[in-house]
Amino acid sequence: MREANISVGIDIGNTKIITCVGKTEDGTTDIIGLGLSENQGIRKGVIVDIEETVSAISASILEAERMSGCQITHACVGISGPFIECEQSKGIIAITEPNGVIVDEDVRRVIEAAKAIPTKSNREVLHVLPQNFIIDGSEVIKDPLGMTGIRLEVLSNIITASSNAVKSLVRAVEQTGIGMNELVFSPLSQAKFLLNKRQMDIGVILIDIGAATTSYVAFEEGEITICGVVPVGSQHITNDIAIGLRTNLDLAETIKLKYGYAMPDRVDEKEILELSKLDKNEDSQVKLRYVAEIIEARLNEIFSIIKENLAKNDCNDALPAGVILTGGGAKIDGIIDLTKETMRLPAKIGKSSIEISGLIDKLDDPIYSTGIGLMLWDRERIPGHGNFRFDLSGVTGVVDKVKSLFKHILP
Ligand SMILES: Nc1ncnc2c1ncn2[C@@H]1O[C@H](COP(=O)(O)OP(=O)(O)OP(=O)(O)O)[C@@H](O)[C@H]1O
Ligand SMILES: [Mg+2]
Repeated sequence: MREANISVGIDIGNTKIITCVGKTEDGTTDIIGLGLSENQGIRKGVIVDIEETVSAISASILEAERMSGCQITHACVGISGPFIECEQSKGIIAITEPNGVIVDEDVRRVIEAAKAIPTKSNREVLHVLPQNFIIDGSEVIKDPLGMTGIRLEVLSNIITASSNAVKSLVRAVEQTGIGMNELVFSPLSQAKFLLNKRQMDIGVILIDIGAATTSYVAFEEGEITICGVVPVGSQHITNDIAIGLRTNLDLAETIKLKYGYAMPDRVDEKEILELSKLDKNEDSQVKLRYVAEIIEARLNEIFSIIKENLAKNDCNDALPAGVILTGGGAKIDGIIDLTKETMRLPAKIGKSSIEISGLIDKLDDPIYSTGIGLMLWDRERIPGHGNFRFDLSGVTGVVDKVKSLFKHILP
């Protein structure tokens, strides 16, 4: 049996799987178990080798079980990839109470109506994120409960994923014997861990630079304004280095990790790396400034795509709380200054925004932020309400009161 105060998150990434176990007592959460296993069964967020992925998930769970001493039966699982889409939607309902007072049930119904948009076929709705409610066509408010009117509308962001990607992920998790409490678009869970309310109120964008993908979510006035996934990540930098220097991928990865820098102008033009130092089969020399130019070009591409997406969707890109970077790709030296320059915003690496203890050294490592975020998302589950509900209360204001809506996905 699962202990009531235990919550678990599983991050199924393109390079690794992380299982995070948290124990919550007296309002404080302690990370008591972390499992990490390498995974080669995923390409661009889609499972291409189910057996490999199932055994990697199982290995990660086993390690987290050993460390925590808990038997894991259920978890919140993250999903991200280029198959994710964020679109605007509107729901409209007539208010049912004879006195016109808007009750919880009206809010639920209007959000259900927003979910029933004619999305493209073969897509699953993962989240409905209300932005504004409108009463009788004119009064725009954040929280309609207790107000009166005849007609209630909601403007929402709907996050959808391709059915195939969802089904294969659900199937892989099922095969490990673990029950899935919720399937969560990963950056939303990271926001729970890395962003505070003030940042979300004044405007902030969280960017997770993973191996194969870069996921982002922006907030303004406490609400999500846009989110998405760019099909480019840190692995592309490694590929570019391998092509640019004509080396194998392992050597290119080592060069990136040991000597990579994101600001070429700050690298002395005379700084040379003898490749024989890293691989005895190599005898060429490379200019470290050239390596930095390769890195800068890819990171700029990622940031430009995100900026374009913000502009295309009429989202404000002047976000005073700036860019919060996370994911393994954010560990490259010089990335903060490059982000500031390209995004024209303040920038920093995401750190825990909430009180959390245990395994402190891992808390600040960007590769763990999704796993920890998902564990925190799992912590929000309401006991006694079954497995089909989610609560965005840690993410945004009005939805504190708007629960449920998770569409349970069957394989
Ligand atoms: N110190 C570092 N400097 C530069 N890059 C790094 C560093 N550490 C890790 N990386 C890169 O981060 C990437 C892995 O990041 P992460 O663990 O966030 O990916 P993932 O979650 O498996 O992938 P995805 O989010 O795309 O599913 C790898 O490409 C790796 O080369
Ligand atoms: Mg990731």
